[in-house]
Amino acid sequence: MKATVENRKAHLDELNRRIEKFTTPDEIDSIDKIVEEILELKEKKNVVILGHNYMTPDVFYGVSDFTGDSLALAKKAAETKADIILFDGVHFMAETAKILSPDKKVLIADLEAGCSLAESISGADVRQLKKDNPGAIVVTYINCTAEVKAESDVICTSANAVKIVNSVKSDKVIMIPDEYLAGNVQKETDKKLITWPGKCMVHELYTEEDVKLARKNYPGIVIIAHPECHPDVTKLVDYTGSTSKMSQFVEESKAKDIMLLTECSMSDNLMSDFPGVNFISTCQTCPHMKKITLSKILNSLKEEKFEIDVPEDIRTRAKKALDRMLEFS
Ligand code: 13P
Ligand code: SF4
Repeated sequence: MKATVENRKAHLDELNRRIEKFTTPDEIDSIDKIVEEILELKEKKNVVILGHNYMTPDVFYGVSDFTGDSLALAKKAAETKADIILFDGVHFMAETAKILSPDKKVLIADLEAGCSLAESISGADVRQLKKDNPGAIVVTYINCTAEVKAESDVICTSANAVKIVNSVKSDKVIMIPDEYLAGNVQKETDKKLITWPGKCMVHELYTEEDVKLARKNYPGIVIIAHPECHPDVTKLVDYTGSTSKMSQFVEESKAKDIMLLTECSMSDNLMSDFPGVNFISTCQTCPHMKKITLSKILNSLKEEKFEIDVPEDIRTRAKKALDRMLEFS
Protein backbone atom coordinates (compact mmCIF):
# COMPACT_ATOMS: atom_id res chain seq x y z
CA MET A 1 0.00 0.00 0.00
CA LYS A 2 1.34 3.41 -0.96
CA ALA A 3 1.64 5.79 1.99
CA THR A 4 0.27 9.28 1.54
CA VAL A 5 -0.92 11.92 4.04
CA GLU A 6 -4.46 11.99 2.61
CA ASN A 7 -5.21 8.43 3.51
CA ARG A 8 -3.19 8.38 6.74
CA LYS A 9 -5.90 6.85 8.93
CA ALA A 10 -6.81 4.15 6.41
CA HIS A 11 -3.12 3.51 5.87
CA LEU A 12 -2.46 2.92 9.58
CA ASP A 13 -5.55 0.69 9.94
CA GLU A 14 -4.36 -1.38 7.02
CA LEU A 15 -0.80 -1.52 8.41
CA ASN A 16 -2.07 -2.62 11.84
CA ARG A 17 -4.08 -5.42 10.25
CA ARG A 18 -0.99 -6.60 8.43
CA ILE A 19 1.36 -6.53 11.40
CA GLU A 20 -0.94 -7.70 14.22
CA LYS A 21 0.37 -11.28 13.87
CA PHE A 22 3.90 -10.14 14.65
CA THR A 23 3.31 -7.43 17.29
CA THR A 24 1.68 -6.67 20.67
CA PRO A 25 -0.94 -3.83 20.98
CA ASP A 26 1.67 -1.64 22.78
CA GLU A 27 4.18 -2.18 20.01
CA ILE A 28 1.50 -1.33 17.42
CA ASP A 29 0.92 2.04 19.12
CA SER A 30 4.58 2.98 19.02
CA ILE A 31 4.96 1.69 15.44
CA ASP A 32 2.02 3.87 14.35
CA LYS A 33 3.60 6.95 15.95
CA ILE A 34 6.95 6.41 14.22
CA VAL A 35 5.22 5.68 10.90
CA GLU A 36 3.27 8.95 11.16
CA GLU A 37 6.45 10.93 11.87
CA ILE A 38 8.22 9.28 8.94
CA LEU A 39 5.32 10.00 6.57
CA GLU A 40 5.27 13.66 7.61
CA LEU A 41 9.01 14.13 7.14
CA LYS A 42 8.93 12.24 3.88
CA GLU A 43 6.30 14.58 2.51
CA LYS A 44 8.02 17.74 3.84
CA LYS A 45 11.41 16.85 2.37
CA ASN A 46 10.13 15.32 -0.90
CA VAL A 47 11.60 11.90 -0.22
CA VAL A 48 10.88 8.67 -2.04
CA ILE A 49 11.29 5.53 0.06
CA LEU A 50 12.25 2.36 -1.79
CA GLY A 51 11.75 -0.83 0.20
CA HIS A 52 13.20 -4.20 -0.72
CA ASN A 53 11.02 -7.32 -0.40
CA TYR A 54 13.12 -8.42 2.61
CA MET A 55 12.10 -5.47 4.78
CA THR A 56 10.04 -6.34 7.86
CA PRO A 57 6.25 -5.81 7.42
CA ASP A 58 6.22 -2.52 9.41
CA VAL A 59 8.82 -1.01 7.04
CA PHE A 60 7.53 -2.75 3.93
CA TYR A 61 3.87 -1.81 4.32
CA GLY A 62 4.26 1.15 6.67
CA VAL A 63 6.58 3.60 4.94
CA SER A 64 7.64 2.37 1.47
CA ASP A 65 6.48 4.26 -1.62
CA PHE A 66 7.67 1.43 -3.84
CA THR A 67 8.55 -2.13 -2.99
CA GLY A 68 10.09 -4.86 -5.10
CA ASP A 69 13.15 -6.84 -6.09
CA SER A 70 16.56 -5.38 -6.96
CA LEU A 71 15.65 -4.86 -10.62
CA ALA A 72 12.34 -3.09 -9.98
CA LEU A 73 13.88 -0.81 -7.35
CA ALA A 74 16.88 0.06 -9.55
CA LYS A 75 14.40 1.14 -12.25
CA LYS A 76 12.46 3.26 -9.74
CA ALA A 77 15.69 4.87 -8.52
CA ALA A 78 16.61 5.80 -12.09
CA GLU A 79 13.31 7.54 -12.82
CA THR A 80 12.24 9.24 -9.57
CA LYS A 81 11.59 12.99 -9.40
CA ALA A 82 12.05 13.15 -5.60
CA ASP A 83 14.86 15.23 -4.05
CA ILE A 84 15.95 12.46 -1.72
CA ILE A 85 15.95 8.68 -2.15
CA LEU A 86 15.89 6.74 1.13
CA PHE A 87 16.78 3.15 0.37
CA ASP A 88 15.41 0.56 2.77
CA GLY A 89 17.62 -2.32 1.77
CA VAL A 90 21.35 -2.97 1.88
CA HIS A 91 24.33 -0.79 1.00
CA PHE A 92 24.88 -1.98 -2.58
CA MET A 93 21.24 -1.14 -3.39
CA ALA A 94 21.58 2.42 -2.11
CA GLU A 95 24.87 2.73 -3.99
CA THR A 96 23.13 1.54 -7.17
CA ALA A 97 20.50 4.27 -6.66
CA LYS A 98 23.26 6.90 -6.35
CA ILE A 99 25.00 5.62 -9.50
CA LEU A 100 21.75 5.93 -11.45
CA SER A 101 20.59 9.21 -9.88
CA PRO A 102 23.75 11.21 -9.10
CA ASP A 103 21.90 14.50 -8.57
CA LYS A 104 19.73 13.09 -5.79
CA LYS A 105 20.68 12.79 -2.16
CA VAL A 106 20.66 9.05 -1.43
CA LEU A 107 20.31 7.89 2.17
CA ILE A 108 20.50 4.56 3.97
CA ALA A 109 19.39 4.16 7.58
CA ASP A 110 22.38 2.02 8.62
CA LEU A 111 25.73 1.96 6.83
CA GLU A 112 26.49 -1.47 8.30
CA ALA A 113 23.74 -3.09 6.21
CA GLY A 114 26.09 -4.96 3.87
CA CYS A 115 25.94 -8.22 1.93
CA SER A 116 28.11 -11.37 2.01
CA LEU A 117 28.15 -11.45 -1.80
CA ALA A 118 29.26 -7.83 -2.15
CA GLU A 119 32.01 -8.43 0.39
CA SER A 120 33.32 -11.51 -1.43
CA ILE A 121 35.00 -9.72 -4.34
CA SER A 122 37.01 -6.55 -5.04
CA GLY A 123 37.74 -4.51 -8.16
CA ALA A 124 41.28 -5.96 -8.20
CA ASP A 125 39.82 -9.51 -8.23
CA VAL A 126 37.76 -8.64 -11.32
CA ARG A 127 40.79 -7.13 -13.09
CA GLN A 128 42.70 -10.37 -12.42
CA LEU A 129 39.83 -12.51 -13.73
CA LYS A 130 39.75 -10.46 -16.95
CA LYS A 131 43.52 -10.88 -17.35
CA ASP A 132 43.21 -14.64 -16.83
CA ASN A 133 40.30 -14.97 -19.28
CA PRO A 134 40.94 -12.73 -22.29
CA GLY A 135 37.91 -12.17 -24.51
CA ALA A 136 35.40 -13.12 -21.83
CA ILE A 137 32.49 -10.75 -21.09
CA VAL A 138 32.00 -9.85 -17.44
CA VAL A 139 28.36 -10.23 -16.30
CA THR A 140 28.16 -9.17 -12.66
CA TYR A 141 25.32 -9.72 -10.22
CA ILE A 142 23.99 -6.42 -8.87
CA ASN A 143 24.92 -7.58 -5.32
CA CYS A 144 28.41 -6.01 -5.51
CA THR A 145 30.17 -2.71 -4.79
CA ALA A 146 30.30 0.25 -7.19
CA GLU A 147 34.01 -0.50 -7.72
CA VAL A 148 33.18 -4.03 -8.93
CA LYS A 149 30.34 -2.72 -11.13
CA ALA A 150 32.84 -0.30 -12.69
CA GLU A 151 35.04 -3.24 -13.79
CA SER A 152 32.06 -5.09 -15.33
CA ASP A 153 30.65 -5.12 -18.86
CA VAL A 154 27.03 -5.57 -17.80
CA ILE A 155 25.10 -6.01 -14.56
CA CYS A 156 22.32 -8.53 -13.98
CA THR A 157 19.85 -9.30 -11.21
CA SER A 158 18.31 -12.60 -10.26
CA ALA A 159 15.27 -11.58 -12.36
CA ASN A 160 17.16 -11.19 -15.66
CA ALA A 161 20.42 -13.16 -15.28
CA VAL A 162 19.64 -15.85 -17.89
CA LYS A 163 18.42 -13.26 -20.42
CA ILE A 164 21.53 -11.08 -19.97
CA VAL A 165 23.99 -14.00 -20.19
CA ASN A 166 22.30 -15.30 -23.34
CA SER A 167 22.32 -11.88 -24.95
CA VAL A 168 26.03 -10.97 -24.58
CA LYS A 169 28.23 -11.28 -27.66
CA SER A 170 30.68 -13.92 -26.41
CA ASP A 171 30.43 -17.61 -25.60
CA LYS A 172 32.81 -17.11 -22.71
CA VAL A 173 31.26 -15.26 -19.76
CA ILE A 174 32.75 -14.38 -16.38
CA MET A 175 29.72 -14.53 -14.09
CA ILE A 176 30.44 -13.15 -10.61
CA PRO A 177 30.32 -13.10 -7.62
CA ASP A 178 27.53 -15.61 -6.77
CA GLU A 179 28.69 -19.14 -7.52
CA TYR A 180 25.22 -20.62 -6.96
CA LEU A 181 23.38 -18.05 -9.10
CA ALA A 182 25.92 -18.80 -11.85
CA GLY A 183 25.32 -22.55 -11.31
CA ASN A 184 21.58 -22.02 -11.75
CA VAL A 185 22.09 -19.90 -14.88
CA GLN A 186 24.50 -22.51 -16.28
CA LYS A 187 21.57 -24.97 -16.39
CA GLU A 188 19.85 -22.64 -18.87
CA THR A 189 22.65 -21.54 -21.17
CA ASP A 190 25.14 -23.15 -23.55
CA LYS A 191 27.72 -20.45 -22.77
CA LYS A 192 30.70 -21.35 -20.65
CA LEU A 193 30.44 -19.55 -17.31
CA ILE A 194 33.58 -18.75 -15.34
CA THR A 195 32.52 -18.33 -11.71
CA TRP A 196 33.68 -16.88 -8.38
CA PRO A 197 33.17 -18.55 -4.98
CA GLY A 198 30.88 -15.86 -3.50
CA LYS A 199 27.76 -16.98 -1.63
CA CYS A 200 24.70 -15.45 -0.02
CA MET A 201 25.00 -16.24 3.69
CA VAL A 202 21.22 -16.68 3.88
CA HIS A 203 20.44 -18.84 0.86
CA GLU A 204 23.50 -21.08 1.16
CA LEU A 205 21.94 -22.47 4.36
CA TYR A 206 19.14 -24.27 2.51
CA THR A 207 19.75 -27.95 1.82
CA GLU A 208 18.25 -30.76 -0.23
CA GLU A 209 17.15 -32.25 3.11
CA ASP A 210 14.93 -29.18 3.79
CA VAL A 211 13.09 -29.81 0.53
CA LYS A 212 12.75 -33.59 1.03
CA LEU A 213 11.49 -33.17 4.60
CA ALA A 214 8.89 -30.58 3.58
CA ARG A 215 7.59 -32.84 0.80
CA LYS A 216 7.28 -35.71 3.28
CA ASN A 217 5.50 -33.63 5.94
CA TYR A 218 3.23 -31.65 3.62
CA PRO A 219 2.12 -33.74 0.63
CA GLY A 220 1.22 -31.42 -2.27
CA ILE A 221 3.34 -28.55 -0.95
CA VAL A 222 4.65 -26.03 -3.48
CA ILE A 223 8.30 -25.09 -2.86
CA ILE A 224 9.78 -21.91 -4.30
CA ALA A 225 13.47 -20.99 -4.13
CA HIS A 226 15.60 -17.95 -4.76
CA PRO A 227 18.36 -18.55 -7.38
CA GLU A 228 21.00 -17.74 -4.75
CA CYS A 229 20.25 -21.25 -3.37
CA HIS A 230 22.56 -24.13 -4.35
CA PRO A 231 21.70 -25.66 -7.78
CA ASP A 232 21.26 -29.07 -6.07
CA VAL A 233 18.48 -27.46 -4.01
CA THR A 234 16.81 -25.55 -6.85
CA LYS A 235 16.65 -28.71 -9.00
CA LEU A 236 14.25 -30.19 -6.41
CA VAL A 237 11.84 -27.25 -6.12
CA ASP A 238 8.74 -26.26 -8.12
CA TYR A 239 9.89 -22.79 -9.10
CA THR A 240 13.03 -20.65 -8.86
CA GLY A 241 12.97 -16.87 -9.26
CA SER A 242 13.78 -13.42 -7.89
CA THR A 243 11.85 -12.16 -4.86
CA SER A 244 9.24 -10.38 -7.02
CA LYS A 245 8.88 -13.39 -9.30
CA MET A 246 8.30 -15.50 -6.18
CA SER A 247 5.39 -13.20 -5.21
CA GLN A 248 3.89 -13.51 -8.70
CA PHE A 249 4.21 -17.28 -8.54
CA VAL A 250 2.42 -17.37 -5.16
CA GLU A 251 -0.36 -15.20 -6.59
CA GLU A 252 -0.85 -17.54 -9.55
CA SER A 253 -0.49 -20.76 -7.55
CA LYS A 254 -3.55 -22.47 -6.18
CA ALA A 255 -1.50 -24.31 -3.53
CA LYS A 256 -2.68 -24.53 0.09
CA ASP A 257 0.82 -25.04 1.53
CA ILE A 258 3.75 -23.03 0.23
CA MET A 259 7.36 -22.94 1.39
CA LEU A 260 9.74 -20.18 0.32
CA LEU A 261 13.46 -20.86 0.43
CA THR A 262 14.47 -17.27 1.06
CA GLU A 263 14.73 -14.55 3.71
CA CYS A 264 12.13 -14.63 6.53
CA SER A 265 10.41 -11.29 5.87
CA MET A 266 9.44 -12.38 2.38
CA SER A 267 6.94 -14.95 3.77
CA ASP A 268 5.86 -12.55 6.54
CA ASN A 269 4.95 -9.94 3.95
CA LEU A 270 3.17 -12.41 1.68
CA MET A 271 1.19 -13.86 4.60
CA SER A 272 -0.92 -10.73 4.87
CA ASP A 273 -1.43 -10.55 1.10
CA PHE A 274 -2.54 -14.18 0.89
CA PRO A 275 -4.32 -15.09 4.14
CA GLY A 276 -5.68 -18.31 2.61
CA VAL A 277 -2.18 -19.76 2.05
CA ASN A 278 -0.36 -21.70 4.75
CA PHE A 279 3.27 -20.52 4.57
CA ILE A 280 5.51 -23.23 5.99
CA SER A 281 8.40 -21.61 7.78
CA THR A 282 12.00 -22.48 7.01
CA CYS A 283 13.03 -19.08 8.15
CA GLN A 284 16.57 -17.77 7.50
CA THR A 285 17.26 -14.17 8.46
CA CYS A 286 19.60 -11.76 6.67
CA PRO A 287 21.35 -9.85 9.49
CA HIS A 288 22.13 -7.04 7.05
CA MET A 289 18.57 -6.45 5.90
CA LYS A 290 17.39 -6.61 9.51
CA LYS A 291 19.62 -3.64 10.41
CA ILE A 292 17.04 -1.39 8.76
CA THR A 293 14.37 -0.53 11.35
CA LEU A 294 11.61 2.09 11.60
CA SER A 295 13.45 4.09 14.30
CA LYS A 296 16.66 4.19 12.24
CA ILE A 297 14.63 5.29 9.21
CA LEU A 298 13.13 8.14 11.24
CA ASN A 299 16.57 9.19 12.42
CA SER A 300 17.92 8.98 8.89
CA LEU A 301 15.19 11.34 7.62
CA LYS A 302 15.58 13.78 10.50
CA GLU A 303 19.35 14.10 10.19
CA GLU A 304 19.61 13.31 6.46
CA LYS A 305 22.12 10.58 7.06
CA PHE A 306 23.75 8.31 6.12
CA GLU A 307 24.47 9.79 2.75
CA ILE A 308 25.83 7.54 0.00
CA ASP A 309 28.52 8.90 -2.27
CA VAL A 310 30.37 7.28 -5.16
CA PRO A 311 33.56 8.79 -6.71
CA GLU A 312 32.66 10.20 -10.13
CA ASP A 313 35.15 8.10 -12.20
CA ILE A 314 33.83 4.88 -10.63
CA ARG A 315 30.22 6.06 -10.90
CA THR A 316 30.36 6.76 -14.64
CA ARG A 317 31.92 3.38 -15.43
CA ALA A 318 29.51 1.54 -13.11
CA LYS A 319 26.58 3.41 -14.69
CA LYS A 320 27.54 2.13 -18.16
CA ALA A 321 27.30 -1.47 -16.92
CA LEU A 322 23.96 -0.76 -15.20
CA ASP A 323 22.57 1.10 -18.24
CA ARG A 324 23.37 -1.92 -20.43
CA MET A 325 21.33 -4.08 -18.06
CA LEU A 326 18.42 -1.61 -18.07
CA GLU A 327 18.46 -1.56 -21.88
CA PHE A 328 18.02 -5.35 -21.90
CA SER A 329 15.32 -5.37 -19.20
P1 13P B 1 16.15 -9.92 -5.55
O1 13P B 1 15.15 -9.15 -4.77
O2 13P B 1 16.64 -9.14 -6.71
O3 13P B 1 15.62 -11.26 -5.93
O4 13P B 1 17.44 -10.13 -4.61
C1 13P B 1 17.47 -10.85 -3.48
C2 13P B 1 18.58 -10.50 -2.58
O5 13P B 1 19.16 -11.33 -1.96
C3 13P B 1 18.91 -9.12 -2.41
O6 13P B 1 19.85 -9.03 -1.46
FE1 SF4 C 1 23.23 -10.28 0.60
FE2 SF4 C 1 22.03 -12.60 0.96
FE3 SF4 C 1 21.47 -10.62 2.60
FE4 SF4 C 1 20.63 -10.50 0.06
S1 SF4 C 1 20.00 -11.96 1.60
S2 SF4 C 1 21.62 -8.86 1.21
S3 SF4 C 1 22.32 -11.57 -0.98
S4 SF4 C 1 23.48 -11.61 2.36
